[in-house]
Amino acid sequence: MLVNNEYKGGENFDLCDVLLKGRKMSFHQKVNFFSDFLKGIKVKKEMQHLRCITSAADREVSVIDPNSGYVKSMLMFGSNNYLGLANHPYIKEFVKRIINRMGVGIGGPPLLNGYTILHRELEERLAALKGCEDALIFSSGYGANVGLITALLNNNDVVLHDRYSHASFADGIKMSGVRAVHFPHNDVEELEKYLTRINVNESKNIFVGVEGVYSMDGDIAPLNRIVPLCKQNNAILILDDAHGTGVMGKTGRGTAEHFGFEGNIDISMGTFSKTFAASGGFVAASKPVINYLRFFARSYMFSASLPPTVIATILAGLDVIEKEPELIAKLKSNIEYTANRLTDLGFECNSLTPIFPLKVPQGMNIREAAFNFHQRGLFLNSIEYPAVPKSQQRFRISIMAIHKKDDIDKLVTAIEEIWDEFKQSRMKEFLPNRFKKALVN
Ligand SMILES: Cc1ncc(COP(=O)(O)O)c(C=O)c1O
Repeated sequence: MLVNNEYKGGENFDLCDVLLKGRKMSFHQKVNFFSDFLKGIKVKKEMQHLRCITSAADREVSVIDPNSGYVKSMLMFGSNNYLGLANHPYIKEFVKRIINRMGVGIGGPPLLNGYTILHRELEERLAALKGCEDALIFSSGYGANVGLITALLNNNDVVLHDRYSHASFADGIKMSGVRAVHFPHNDVEELEKYLTRINVNESKNIFVGVEGVYSMDGDIAPLNRIVPLCKQNNAILILDDAHGTGVMGKTGRGTAEHFGFEGNIDISMGTFSKTFAASGGFVAASKPVINYLRFFARSYMFSASLPPTVIATILAGLDVIEKEPELIAKLKSNIEYTANRLTDLGFECNSLTPIFPLKVPQGMNIREAAFNFHQRGLFLNSIEYPAVPKSQQRFRISIMAIHKKDDIDKLVTAIEEIWDEFKQSRMKEFLPNRFKKALVN
C-alpha cells in the first residue's frame, strides 16, 4: 500500500501502474509520486534509460555511468545509426561547408520563411529515392505521420492498419477522428477480409497503413502481397519505412525496393532519425498529394523548418549511400553473422533487418539484466511494459555496418552468460532445500 502517495521502493511498479495511479491523483501528488518512483529505481540500479553520452554516436560511445558518475566506454548496440553515418567524415565536412554558407538555423516554417534551395534539393532527391513525383520534409517523423493522416483522411474514410503500427500513426488516427480498424500483425488474410467487406465510393476511401520494417520486432511487411491486394481493392497504401529507408533493398531505397515495388507505393513516409542518424521526416507521393499536404498538414505548416545543417546532413548521407554501397553490404553481412550466432544459442532470428528483438524469458527481471549488460560495457535498449505487452518484454539490439565481428562476439557471449545465470538461478529456486545447501557449500 502507498503511504501518503509516496513510492517506498518496495513495490515492483512499472510505468503503466504509475500512469494509472496518477490518473486518480492531483497534479502535485502525481508528479511527486513519479519522482519518488524514479528515485526508487535509481537506488535499485534499475535505471538504464536517459544515459548521457559525451561522444559522437559511433560503434563505441562514452557514457556517464548513472551509478558511479564516471565516464565509461561502451559498445553501442542501441542506436538506429544503421550505416554509421552519425560520425561519417564526408558528412561532417559537407555540413561544415553548409554552416559557413547558410548559417545554423532558419527561424520559421516553410510556407513563410523556412524554405531554402537546399530543402528543395532534398525534396527532389527523396522523391527520386522513393520513385515518386514529389516529397515534402517535416521536422520529425512523428510529425510526418500525424500530419499526413490528419490532412488526408476524412471522417467518412476508413483506415486499416497493422496492430504494431507506430505511436505516431496511432496518434494521427486519434487526432483525425477517422474510423480505424487494426488487423493482426502482418496477417494479410485478415486484411483481405476487411478490404473486401468495405464498400468504396467517391466520398469514402480505404487507406491501408503498414510499416516496411517493424521497429520493435525487426520483421518486414509482406509488400509482395499487400501492394497487389490494395490495388485490387482500390485502397490507398501508406508505407511507413522509417527503419527500411537506407537499409532495405540493394541500393537502400527501402522495403519497396527489397520487394521490387519501387514507385508502386501511394504514400511513402520516412524519417531522418534512423539511418541518417539526424532528425526529421518526409512524405513522398504524387504531386497533387504533396501540394495538398503543404497547405493542410498542420505539423508542416505550423512548425519551423529543419535547419540547413540537418538538411545538409541528409543530402550528404544520400551521397554516401549512393557512393559507398559497401556500407549496406557490410551491414547485411553483420546482420547475417549476428543471426547465425544467436540462432546457435537457440534464439529465433530473421536475418533481413538490423533489428534483433531479444525476448526475456518469463521470470527474468529485465531491469536487472539491463544493469548487467550496462556493467559489461554493452549499450542496448530494454523495452518494457507498457511499450510492449508484459509477456513480450525484450532487449532491442540494433546492428550497424560499423560493428566489428569481435563486437558482435562480445555481445553474444554476454547474452549467453546472462541467460545462463538466469537459468541457473531458476534451477536453484526449484531445488529442494537440501540440494540448495549442497550448492552453497
Ligand atoms: C516506425 C516509425 N515511424 C515513425 C517514427 C517517428 O520518427 P521520428 O523519430 O523521426 O519522429 C519512428 C521512430 O521511432 C518509427 O519507429
